[in-house]
Amino acid sequence: MVQRKKLRSQRWFGKLDKDGFIHRSWMKNQGFPDHVFDGRPVIGICNSASQFAPCNAHLGQIADAVKRGVWEAGGFPLEFPTMSLGETLMLPTAMLYRNLMSMDVEESIRANPMDGVVLLCGCDKTTPAQIMGAASVNLPTIVVSGGPMLNGYYRGQVIGSGTDVWRFSEAVRAGTMTTAEFMAAESCMSRSPGHCNTMGTASTMTNLAEALGLQLPGCAAMPAVDSRKLTIAHLAGLRIVEMVKEDCRIHDILTRQAFENAIRVSAALGGSTNAVIHLLAMAGRVGVPLVLDDFDTLTQDIPLLANLKPSGQFLMEDFFYAGGLPAVMNALLTVLHGNALTVTGKTIKDNVTGAEIYNRDVITTRDKPFLKNSATVVLKGNLCPQGAVIKQAAATPKLMQHCGPAVVFENIEDFKARIDDPHLEVTADSILVLKNCGPKGYPGMPEVGNMALPKKLLEKGITDMVRISDARMSGTAYGTVILHVSPEAAVGGPFAFVKTGDKIEIDVVNRRIDWKVSDTERAQRQQQWKKPKLDYERGYTSLYIKHVTQAHEGADFDFLVGHSGDEVKRESH
Ligand code: FES
Repeated sequence: MVQRKKLRSQRWFGKLDKDGFIHRSWMKNQGFPDHVFDGRPVIGICNSASQFAPCNAHLGQIADAVKRGVWEAGGFPLEFPTMSLGETLMLPTAMLYRNLMSMDVEESIRANPMDGVVLLCGCDKTTPAQIMGAASVNLPTIVVSGGPMLNGYYRGQVIGSGTDVWRFSEAVRAGTMTTAEFMAAESCMSRSPGHCNTMGTASTMTNLAEALGLQLPGCAAMPAVDSRKLTIAHLAGLRIVEMVKEDCRIHDILTRQAFENAIRVSAALGGSTNAVIHLLAMAGRVGVPLVLDDFDTLTQDIPLLANLKPSGQFLMEDFFYAGGLPAVMNALLTVLHGNALTVTGKTIKDNVTGAEIYNRDVITTRDKPFLKNSATVVLKGNLCPQGAVIKQAAATPKLMQHCGPAVVFENIEDFKARIDDPHLEVTADSILVLKNCGPKGYPGMPEVGNMALPKKLLEKGITDMVRISDARMSGTAYGTVILHVSPEAAVGGPFAFVKTGDKIEIDVVNRRIDWKVSDTERAQRQQQWKKPKLDYERGYTSLYIKHVTQAHEGADFDFLVGHSGDEVKRESH
C-alpha cells in the first residue's frame, strides 16, 4: 500500500488484521479494486434524494457529478442515503423530523469510514438538518444544494412556488378564480426538478449555506436543470479532497463571523423567517453563541437588495441570471466579515469581489434598495417575553403599527372550523390569534402561522390582517404575520391566556407587542389555565415533545446541542 498521511478512514481500511479484512472484503462486493483502500481520502456523499421529497428527487445525478470530481482528485467517493424531508408531503409537518434527520446524518457520518463529506440537500429542512448533523461531527464538509426549479408560467404569467398557491387559494375563496383554473395552475408551477423557485425557506437556507461559506460561490442560485449545476458539483468533488488534505473542517468555517454574515445576507435577500430557527440550531451544534436578538441588532442597516417573491417580483431563475448570491454579497461586502473563511480555502471577500449585477430589476445595491427595512425582526412584550418574529418585507406597512381586538383560535382545528363562519365576529382591524402550534404544542411547529383570512373579509377585498401565533409560516408566504411566539402556549407562556376581545397592540418600529390586559386579570387566567394533554405516549414524537427546545432557542433537542467529534472508540467485531 502507498504511504500517505494517516486518515480517519484508515482506521477501517488500513489494517491487515481480521477487522481490516472485514472492512475491505465486503466493500469489494461492489467491485472496488485493492488500490482504492490505499489511504486516499474517502469522501462520503450524503444524499437526501427521495421520491417522497420531490425537491430532492434529482440528487442522484448531482451525486454522480460529485463522484467524478472526487475520483479525479484522487479520492474515493462513497454515496450514502439518509432520511429525507419532503415539505409538501410529510405530516403533520416536516419540521417535526428535522432533528431526527440531523441525528441520522450525524450518526451516519461518524459511524462510517469517511474523511470528508459532501451534503446534497434542497428542500427546506434538508439543508439545516444536514448542516446540524455534520457540525456535530466536524469533518471537512461541503454543501451542494440541488438548485431551484425553473420559473413557473401560468397563462403567460410568471408564478412562483408556494407564494402563488397562497394567492390563488385566496382568490378561489374570494370567488375571483374558479376551481378549474386553480387545478390548471398546478402543473404550470412545478415544471422541472428542483426546490421551490421563490425565496422561500429552501432558497433561503441554500443561499445561507453559501453565505456561511459552506458552498462553492454561485451554487445556491443555479437552477437544478442547468448543466452548470453538475459542473459545480464536480468542482465540489475536487475541492472536498483538497479540504481533507488541508484538514479544513466545518468548525473552521462556521464561526460567529460566518453566522453574522448569513443573518445579514438573509435580510438583504428577504429570506424566510424559518432561517432564524435553523441558524440558531446550527450555531448551537458548533458552540457559536447566537441569540434571537442578534437577528434584529445585526440587520438594522441592511435593506432589501433582491426583488424576489414572496417579498418582491422575480424568481430564483431570474436571480441566477442577474448574478445570484455572489452579486448580492459583493453589494453588501462593506457590512460583511469579508475575511471569513469558506470551503474554497479563500475568504468571502476573495470569492465575491467583482461579482457583477446583470439585472438591476432583480438585484440592486445598498444605495438604491428595493426596501429600506426588510429584515425579519424580533418583537418582545408581555405576550412573548422570549420574543416573536415578523418579516417586514412581507408585511403591509400600515399594519405594522396597529391595535385591535384578538379573535382567538385555541388550535388549528378550531381555526379551520370557525374561520369561514359567517357569524364570526371579525373585522379587518381584528388580530387573528392561533395557539398551540408551537414546537411541543402541535407538535413540530408547523407552517400554519399565515392563517387564511376569513372568507367574508376576502369577499370585501381585504388582503391582509395582523396574525399572531406560536407557529411558523412557509418561507414562500407573506402578510403581516407575527410568528414563533415564545414561550409557546402549550408550555404555559402568557400567549396561552389570551382571549377573544383582548386588545393587542403591535409596534414593529419599536419592536413591541403589548397585550392590554391588567396584571390581575392575567394572573387569574394563569391560575385557571389547564395544560393541554400532549397525546403522544411512545415513539419519536414522545421523545420530541420531551426534548425539543423553544423557538427562540432553535427548536433543537436539548441533548443534541453541541458536538461529539468524529471519534468512535470501539470496533464492531
Ligand atoms: Fe421543497 Fe419548497 S417544498 S423547497
